[in-house]
Amino acid sequence: MKDKLALLRDKTSEAQLGGGQNRIDKQHDKGKLTARERIQFLMDEGTFEEIGMLVSHRSYDFGMEKQRILGDGVITGFGTINGRLVYVFAQDFTVFGGSLSETHAEKICKIMDLAMQNGAPVIGLNDSGGARIQEGVKSLGGYADIFYRNVITSGVVPQISAIMGPCAGGAVYSPAMTDFTVMVEHTSYMFVTGPNVVKTVTNEEVSAEELGGASAHSTKSGVTHLTASNDIDCIDKLKRLISYMPQNCEEKAPRIPYHLGDEIREGLSDIIPENAHQPYDMREVVTGIVDEDSFLEIHKDYADNIIVGFARIAGRSIGIVGNQPISLAGVLDVNSSKKGARFVRFCDCFNIPLLVLVDVPGFLPGTDQEWNGIIVNGAKLLYAFSEATVPRITLITRKAYGGAYDVMNSKHIGADMNYAWPTAEIAVMGAKGASEIIFRKEISEADNPEAILKEKETAYQEKFANPYSAASRGFIDEVIDPRLSRRKLIRAFEMLENKVSHLPKKKHGNIPL
Ligand code: HXC
Repeated sequence: MKDKLALLRDKTSEAQLGGGQNRIDKQHDKGKLTARERIQFLMDEGTFEEIGMLVSHRSYDFGMEKQRILGDGVITGFGTINGRLVYVFAQDFTVFGGSLSETHAEKICKIMDLAMQNGAPVIGLNDSGGARIQEGVKSLGGYADIFYRNVITSGVVPQISAIMGPCAGGAVYSPAMTDFTVMVEHTSYMFVTGPNVVKTVTNEEVSAEELGGASAHSTKSGVTHLTASNDIDCIDKLKRLISYMPQNCEEKAPRIPYHLGDEIREGLSDIIPENAHQPYDMREVVTGIVDEDSFLEIHKDYADNIIVGFARIAGRSIGIVGNQPISLAGVLDVNSSKKGARFVRFCDCFNIPLLVLVDVPGFLPGTDQEWNGIIVNGAKLLYAFSEATVPRITLITRKAYGGAYDVMNSKHIGADMNYAWPTAEIAVMGAKGASEIIFRKEISEADNPEAILKEKETAYQEKFANPYSAASRGFIDEVIDPRLSRRKLIRAFEMLENKVSHLPKKKHGNIPL
């Protein structure tokens, strides 16, 4: 028995050393942690149970039979984060550059299957040179096995990807199909084709960082939802992100104990400027309403004319979608519609109630928007809200104009409770534009067209630039004093806690992708 235990000890330390001390040092020199260190920081102390530590590849080509490293470039297993079960895989760049072989893929698939069967999230820590070149199509098959599971698992358990090194070629499609992606600044990149291929095909000169670094994907493409300054920051963000989510689609997100006070927030009444054309930061409304320090903004630097993120209200997890008047006056455009729709669908998958804050002058006009499909992309947001069966509450702070009023979680598309502040303006369009259209003839024939326009504008303003016409129809449930918003919303979410709503039986809807 002693000998057998000694052999086990040897094998375990061999596996734990990965590609060897030299390669571990190289990883540290790049400012990166090793796969094992990342797992250690991610999971609650002493809870990680490794699966498949002794797996090695089955390849004999290109001298591979002489290079078998236990674990085969990926560490997989389960453990807890803040006491909750999570499955994890971490690619080990010190072993064949973290490249994905047939067996490496099998290990990832095994934990994905376990995660789905046992209803717990999967976190993938990606750091890989891509397909194991020596294995050819077996490696490509391995990727496809993972992609397939990403899709089948989607909406069953949360899937989160951290990109902590290279992630290139078709490999990018696994993180892209997970729910959230976090990229580490300067040490990670994602692209379908790298700088050399780009140069050959399009003659563009671009660095890996410019093409697919954290900055490019958090601002230009929207591929990544969060960025982190280093590996530790990335792991902290993963832990925070997951704290807002339930374990699976059958459960509710964990609730933090909260003792109710009067919940009046005086500051909320000072946010909307006197002048309706002046912008303000919708984040001030968010932080005034939600529990202190609970707002985690997602996609912060992408399509910033809409805000999305998680927060808590009286300890309950909620998803927030809000127009942002300080960027493009808060209009909806192609990217903000896609950003909002994707977030709404995540919240709906995982029973996270939605709070929608509205100050929207409409959709962004222009050839760029029309030719890039504002019609089909705006429809995504409309579709996502309409099909969501989670509790949905809207608060209109100022403008709710035109089609954007309908889209932004209006009563008509299934919102449960719709509130407005007294500063709300719910109309087909702004008073000036409306008057110019409906009184065109009268204005053009008048001796003083400007005075008549002003007169008509004022009349239109008085009639529609308020929430009372909508409230008289029941489209708004209550016009509320801003200071009472938090209290009203806590009570409304409490009231909707056990909401049951089913869509008609169907295979699946056909969202305009
Ligand atoms: C096998 C690989 C590998 C790979 C790296 N290595 N990538 N081994 N298959 N894909 C090995 C290297 O040979 C090296 O081994 C060790 O990992 C570390 O790599 P370095 O090149 O020394 O590291 P670095 O300088 O940091 O460069 C990292 C890198 C580079 C930029 C990722 O390794 C690289 O360009 N690799 C190839 C990337 C690639 O073309 N992959 C295939 C993409 S196609 P030694 O023993 O020398 O230390 C693809 C398709 C997926 O992935 C399709 C899915 C549908």
